[in-house]
Amino acid sequence: MTPDLLEAGARRLSEHQTRAVDEGQTESGGRSAGIGRVLRGHAPDFTHGVALYIDDISVSFDGFKALNQLSLSIGVGELRCIIGPNGAGKTTMMDVITGKTRPDAGTAFFGSTIDLLKLRENEIAQVGIGRKFQKPTVYEPLSVWENLELSLKADRRVRASITARLSSEQTDRLQAMLERIHLRDQAHRQAGLLSHGQKQWLEIGMLLMQDPALLLLDEPVAGMTDEETERTAELFLSLAGQHSLVVVEHDMHFVAQLTQGHRTVTVLHEGRVLAGGTLAQVQANPQVVEVYLGR
Ligand SMILES: Nc1ncnc2c1ncn2[C@@H]1O[C@H](COP(=O)(O)OP(=O)(O)O)[C@@H](O)[C@H]1O
Ligand SMILES: [Mg+2]
Repeated sequence: MTPDLLEAGARRLSEHQTRAVDEGQTESGGRSAGIGRVLRGHAPDFTHGVALYIDDISVSFDGFKALNQLSLSIGVGELRCIIGPNGAGKTTMMDVITGKTRPDAGTAFFGSTIDLLKLRENEIAQVGIGRKFQKPTVYEPLSVWENLELSLKADRRVRASITARLSSEQTDRLQAMLERIHLRDQAHRQAGLLSHGQKQWLEIGMLLMQDPALLLLDEPVAGMTDEETERTAELFLSLAGQHSLVVVEHDMHFVAQLTQGHRTVTVLHEGRVLAGGTLAQVQANPQVVEVYLGR
């Protein structure tokens, strides 16, 4: 979830709780106060075909190098899978891209002009990088519909209408998203009552409502049933091309479905890239087998 969305959600949640206690009371105004400032002059430039460029990034925690001169580049519209053993630095890499962790050294660009290391976390979300954490973070007391509505309203482009009712175009977008994330029949259900997989879909839907150019997904199918995993792969495949996606996963069946025999898989180990290629190529790489796949 993006920082702005967290903030908006916390506010919505407290409103919800107030309503529950004191039903007759109307919502207070000033809901738009405190929302992060709109970032201007930061439209990403993708004309060079690069969505994300990171070079020589190092992060150390008490002398331990979680990332060790990591370099990686993701093309516009690419769907890139990243695999690697626990502790390889996959989540730390996402922390750097999203501004949660500052690297000791290196370069990180979104498109060819936006220097991510100069932006704050909420600014990075606003320029169009969405992140899905491992655990689902939806607003459990709110309905599926309300969760999606919330993220639509946290969109930097519709800030002005934050207190307004949804336009018919927005309602259509919301309906289409419900369809896309397989939750059409659950629209008015409380999010807390969804299955783990459905919560993951809802959060992905919430991210997509903000139309990020780049989506980072950290172990999105962990804990999903086989059927949910398969549907998630179909969803991600349908997003490739329109969005750039970086998917960290351990489920090789899922990675195979996403890469379709031709997309690049990157293997991280000890904070750097150990190997890259098709899934078949990296699976045949003795070093990869040694540190990861063979265990
Ligand atoms: N905030 C932190 N403080 C100290 N060590 C950390 C912190 N975050 C991550 N690490 C360490 O950095 C290494 C990489 O972690 P992580 O990026 O979570 O790996 P992965 O996601 O590939 O499993 C691990 O050894 C982890 O213990
Ligand atoms: Mg991780």
